[in-house]
Amino acid sequence: MTNKRQVRVAMIGTGFMARAHSNAYKRLGDFFPELQHRPILKVVCSRREEKARSFAEQWGYESHATDWRKIINRSDIDAVDICAPNDTHAEIAIAAAAAGKMILCEKPLARTVAEAQPMVDAVEKAGVKNTVWYNYRRVPAVTLAKQVIDSGKLGRIFHYRANFLQDWTINPDLPQGGEALWRLDNQTAGSGVTGDLLAHCIDTAMWLNGGIKDVSAVTETFIKERMHQETGKVQQVGIDDACIFHCHFDNGSLGLFEATRYARGQKALYSLEINGEHASIRWDLHDQNRLGFFDHSDDSLVRGWRSVHVSDSDQPYIDRWWIPGVCIGYEHTFVHHAADFFRSLETNEPCSPTFREAQETQKVCEAVLNSAASRQWQDTGVNWV
Ligand SMILES: NC(=O)c1ccc[n+]([C@@H]2O[C@H](COP(=O)([O-])OP(=O)(O)OC[C@H]3O[C@@H](n4cnc5c(N)ncnc54)[C@H](O)[C@@H]3O)[C@@H](O)[C@H]2O)c1
Repeated sequence: MTNKRQVRVAMIGTGFMARAHSNAYKRLGDFFPELQHRPILKVVCSRREEKARSFAEQWGYESHATDWRKIINRSDIDAVDICAPNDTHAEIAIAAAAAGKMILCEKPLARTVAEAQPMVDAVEKAGVKNTVWYNYRRVPAVTLAKQVIDSGKLGRIFHYRANFLQDWTINPDLPQGGEALWRLDNQTAGSGVTGDLLAHCIDTAMWLNGGIKDVSAVTETFIKERMHQETGKVQQVGIDDACIFHCHFDNGSLGLFEATRYARGQKALYSLEINGEHASIRWDLHDQNRLGFFDHSDDSLVRGWRSVHVSDSDQPYIDRWWIPGVCIGYEHTFVHHAADFFRSLETNEPCSPTFREAQETQKVCEAVLNSAASRQWQDTGVNWV
């Protein structure tokens, strides 16, 4: 430990993602021992003192705070990890960049393109390391899909299809807003399933298949009014409960995307399928260690979908974990992302997706929402390189 360079982390938030990221930082040194930098869990911040204190105790942070503004400039903080709701990302990131801190920000980058742009400008002006936690890129099977596509095995791509299905907001009595339910409040979240779920699908899609050129979308809000937890009043629901869009990719392929929180029985089913001239790929989060692969050049007598169990040591990230054949899980995607971020401090390469790349996903999300509102095709303005 003594010869490692410390990266002292300020964690903002104590919820789901704060736990996932804290777990990643804690395991990093054990599973990626070659990294020259080590995270130090310096301070965790949540608005409620009791929550911040107990999180610090449970996860091993040296201290806790209730106002991020009071810790952002501290000289004993090197990196700020933003795990608070979407409406906080811009203000925290811009202040952290001005203070010269590295920033790891949860997705979506912000609520809108306009809100995200000064974040991109701020990190680039300050020259600080930055990344956005679109963690599904770092599921080993999805990383393997990228390698297979880049090797040219699929040939020309015709179709890209993705779904992200949940069912947790069907109950009309569920309130909107406040602790745990901020995702239902458009003011805080910026959108519904588009920014929350489709943003993941869009990030993975552009990473695997290139830029999305234009979109045509439909959204629906099934429950029009819900009680707001903070005001106690019944208020109009502003988020999209479901969204379906189709699109053209820059490479000429067609995309079809769907996300909803009204698919009874589905808890977090993210699935994707890519159809190329020579081969196809499919993957889903419920069976995340498997990659479906169909190769038309196989002998026709045995041709069919293969289910590749991505658990062998020559497959992405797997050599860091257990013996070949045994599985890893959701939490490992965050360890992989943290490892790639820490490695980028040594290589001086960007850790993808950067704020600038995440802004491209933001542009697609916004074009989707604009298309649904206007009932017109929308150009995304994406510049994917
Ligand atoms: N990468 C992923 O797969 C993934 C999954 C879930 C959430 N997210 C993103 O992570 C972020 C957090 O989501 P979550 O599920 O962890 O939410 P959560 O509701 O579980 O936790 C949010 C936390 O932020 C804290 N908070 C709110 N306002 C704050 C403020 N002003 N200062 C400090 N703390 C504040 C809350 O007290 C809470 O601890 C969101 O942007 C969300 O979109 C990403």
